[in-house]
Amino acid sequence: MDENLKKKVLRKIHYGLFVATSSSDKDTASGTINWLTQVSFKPPAVAVAIKKDSFLHKVISESGKFAINIVGKGQKDMAQTFFKGYSVENGKLGGYEIFYGSTGCPIIKASASAFECEVLNKIDFGGDHDVFIGKVVDVHACQDLESLGMMETGWYYGG
Ligand SMILES: Cc1cc2nc3c(=O)[nH]c(=O)nc-3n(C[C@H](O)[C@H](O)[C@H](O)COP(=O)(O)O)c2cc1C
Repeated sequence: MDENLKKKVLRKIHYGLFVATSSSDKDTASGTINWLTQVSFKPPAVAVAIKKDSFLHKVISESGKFAINIVGKGQKDMAQTFFKGYSVENGKLGGYEIFYGSTGCPIIKASASAFECEVLNKIDFGGDHDVFIGKVVDVHACQDLESLGMMETGWYYGG
């Protein structure tokens, strides 16, 4: 396979941008992700691909739950903030105000909207990311903004 063409072709896939969070008894992790899609109506479920060596991966694996904060149009800064993982400090995550959802995961009040998931399955297919299938168990309108598309940012995570 032509490596350069592979990169070019795979980078044509459209994504949204999301801040994933997860809380266990001990830790809270967060990070910007784009590899996410809905995969079932009944039950409502999504698949997310999470880097194996990340703290986010560790905490989701331990807690069996995660929240997805959808980044809105005009909120590129929010996505950029969470390229680095943050824990909760003084009641804020990466400087953003939060509340705790029914799963105990932090929800960013300023996000476009958010939802919470319980992990149904973790798939290790031998890649550098594992796929977590999450059943959607709660939803939050938050600011009810339109969502930001990855293509609008000029960033890539893929190829
Ligand atoms: C544009 C962009 C998209 C990203 N998408 C993902 C993703 O889909 N899954 C993932 O695990 N990490 C993704 N990352 C990396 C995480 O944001 C980053 O590893 C995480 O915030 C840091 O976590 P750590 O400190 O626990 O390693 C992405 C990074 C960038 C810059």
